[in-house]
Amino acid sequence: MTKIGYIVGSISSTSLNRTLAEALAKLAPEGVEFEEIAIKDLPFYSADYDAEFPQVGTDFKNHIESVDGIVIVTPEYNRSIPGVLKNAIEWASRPYGSFSFGGKPVAVLGGSPGAIGTAAAQQHLKAVLSHVNAIVMGQPEGFVQVAPGLITDDREITNEGTKAFLQSYLDAFLGLVARVEKANA
Ligand code: FNR
Repeated sequence: MTKIGYIVGSISSTSLNRTLAEALAKLAPEGVEFEEIAIKDLPFYSADYDAEFPQVGTDFKNHIESVDGIVIVTPEYNRSIPGVLKNAIEWASRPYGSFSFGGKPVAVLGGSPGAIGTAAAQQHLKAVLSHVNAIVMGQPEGFVQVAPGLITDDREITNEGTKAFLQSYLDAFLGLVARVEKANA
């Protein structure tokens, strides 16, 4: 069984990026399991926590380290990534010297009602992920314009072109995960 974690870069109760993440999970082939790595309970990171790292931070780091690959599905806020997502990456990067994303295959995906589909945020996110030593999938890039009705309540994708793209995006990522697994064997 291949375990893929997903992180949603929004804590909105109506997040369209959550629906996108859940729709992607539905495209997973047999033998691949998706599970959310939640960020909403993480407090604001401070270096004060390093001396006595809280359980919520340790649990978050352990969850990241326990999966074979991670898809980060994020909105764009003000042409960058939401603060809640950056905060979560701070937690995963500490205490000093313990990068939970290190050596982990990570794909970046995002949806927005606007035409550029989070492209600016993804550039920033990829730079941050490189710093914390993740193995970031460069291509394909995943910019999704989420028009009303694109994703149903059952997390089905109604546009065949978008569905085919997301399937090929997921296949490419699972290929990267398999290559990393083989290299580490
Ligand atoms: C946005 N939105 C937005 N969209 C975009 O394409 N580029 C941007 O820079 C921004 N900036 C931005 C800032 C803030 C503070 C908010 C609240 C929103 C719109 C955004 O794409 C839209 O609200 C999405 O629905 C957010 O994703 P979730 O939270 O629904 O997953």
